Amino acid sequence: MTLFKRAHRDEIAVVPMNTAHLDEVMSIESSVFPTPWSKSLYRSELEIPDTRIYLCLVERGRVIGYIGAMLVVDEVHITTIAVKESEQRRGIGKALLLHSLMIARSRGALAATLEVRVSSQGAHSLYHRFGFAPAGIRKNYYAEEHEDALIMWSHDLQGDEFNARLTTIASELKIQGLPLPTLSDNGS
Ligand SMILES: CC(C)(COP(=O)(O)OP(=O)(O)OC[C@H]1O[C@@H](n2cnc3c(N)ncnc32)[C@H](O)[C@@H]1OP(=O)(O)O)[C@@H](O)C(=O)NCCC(=O)NCCS
Repeated sequence: MTLFKRAHRDEIAVVPMNTAHLDEVMSIESSVFPTPWSKSLYRSELEIPDTRIYLCLVERGRVIGYIGAMLVVDEVHITTIAVKESEQRRGIGKALLLHSLMIARSRGALAATLEVRVSSQGAHSLYHRFGFAPAGIRKNYYAEEHEDALIMWSHDLQGDEFNARLTTIASELKIQGLPLPTLSDNGS
């Protein structure tokens, strides 16, 4: 994939998630989510790459963030995103979303959607940057915590406006040493 540069141990890079990452993914997962996904769920997701996009951001050989997405015909559903608590607000979430949406676009996605806790204001702001707007509420979606989900959509991923949005986000990202995709990268 042209989007992915080789990650040496002293570098920072976005790479496809594989089973060797799962112990570190689980460690972040259980520290940031009240109802973490299981390792077996991640394993089964990684077994169907034709309809899934799973990426890790790795720094000096350690996973510090990851994202998962599901392709359904011409839509991409962002199913998970998490950044290690000590590494938040460095732009890691932005970099992961940027890469995954570029890959989704290259695989034909026309629109993107996700569910987010109504209380996750930080995540709302992140998604807003990528053109996601509220489209409805799923009542009690996070049943264990009795919390509703906000459904968000970003449309016209193949359009010029979205392209300009990604270009701006990529130009703003200043993570020392992180190779970023250019808009000519098609992820294939
Ligand atoms: C949501 C999450 C993935 C964001 O990752 P991150 O690497 O910290 O985000 P970034 O540094 O890329 O932030 C990008 C933008 O999002 C917004 N943002 C992110 N976290 C924020 C916060 N806590 N408060 C306000 N705005 C926030 C800001 O606009 C930020 O841009 P800025 O730093 O230039 O102001 C991370 O906070 C996380 O893992 N949270 C716990 C898990 C979770 O809630 N996942 C989402 C489930 S839907």
